[in-house]
Amino acid sequence: MPASAAKLRLAETVKEADLVIDGVTMRFETREGAITAVDDMSFSVERGEFVSIIGPSGCGKSTVFNILGGLVRGYEGKVSVGGDVISGPHPSIGMVFQEESTFPWRTVLDNVAFPLEVKGVRKAERHEAARHFIDMVGLNGFEQRYPAELSGGMRQRVAIARTLVFEPKILLMDEPFAALDEQTRLLLGDKVLKIQETLKQTTLLITHNITEAVQLSDRVIIMTFRPGKVKRIVDIRLPRPRTGDVVGSEAFGRHVAEIWNDLREEASRGMAESEAGARRRKG
Ligand SMILES: Nc1ncnc2c1ncn2[C@@H]1O[C@H](COP(=O)(O)OP(=O)(O)OP(=O)(O)O)[C@@H](O)[C@H]1O
Ligand SMILES: [Mg+2]
Repeated sequence: MPASAAKLRLAETVKEADLVIDGVTMRFETREGAITAVDDMSFSVERGEFVSIIGPSGCGKSTVFNILGGLVRGYEGKVSVGGDVISGPHPSIGMVFQEESTFPWRTVLDNVAFPLEVKGVRKAERHEAARHFIDMVGLNGFEQRYPAELSGGMRQRVAIARTLVFEPKILLMDEPFAALDEQTRLLLGDKVLKIQETLKQTTLLITHNITEAVQLSDRVIIMTFRPGKVKRIVDIRLPRPRTGDVVGSEAFGRHVAEIWNDLREEASRGMAESEAGARRRKG
């Protein structure tokens, strides 16, 4: 094969999308009638790319997350993961959920080793792998603790390590740091940046935190308030490798302002709608 053809093929593989969501619409039946949670959404995430989805509460972010994870049926449109159109969970996806998800009855070590235990990996081997990822999220020394003995941020790191331990090619995270204070969030953001630099997984992060989205992402997808659509996709032009220091730069501030400008409109609509809902329920 001529060198130019080999180069072209390489370029094609590098540009290959790992996640493609194509014209996806999802409706839910509720007591107040049918609602369209996600409306004709299309976007893709390239191999090795870090993309965030940001949008106001209730705009359909977790719905998109669950659809990509293969946990929801009954949507219109098509979702492909690693080139396969999915109809259920795909083995190359690892998910970190919005809700607290550590097992309280297991130590940190046995929480993180759990996916390998399910796979039948021997104890010594799975503990070694678990230790590696516990170290990566900065929890060495806490292997024998139980989740109740950790802070919220530490528990989320356990959940992240447990997802990383089976080395998913694609990582989906739904507001993993939502319950944390700003400082912890920024420091965990640093950890996530380092982990992604090392493992180079394709990552999709759901968040409603603008700083976090800009700090971590190559692109940020802004969603509209119900029905959730893609409002705009912003390229984050900040150099990599990044650290938490990037937050203080002028370019960072400009990106934050730009995204807030779009988001403010959607967040206000969301707030107006929930206030109207509260009045209806009262009256
Ligand atoms: N299983 C379900 N049944 C009925 N309605 C649902 C269901 N799941 C989600 N919804 C509705 O769909 C809309 C989008 O919900 P979703 O959880 O995707 O929002 P979100 O953007 O993740 O919000 P948050 O930021 O608060 O987590 C909401 O109005 C929600 O009430
Ligand atoms: Mg959600």
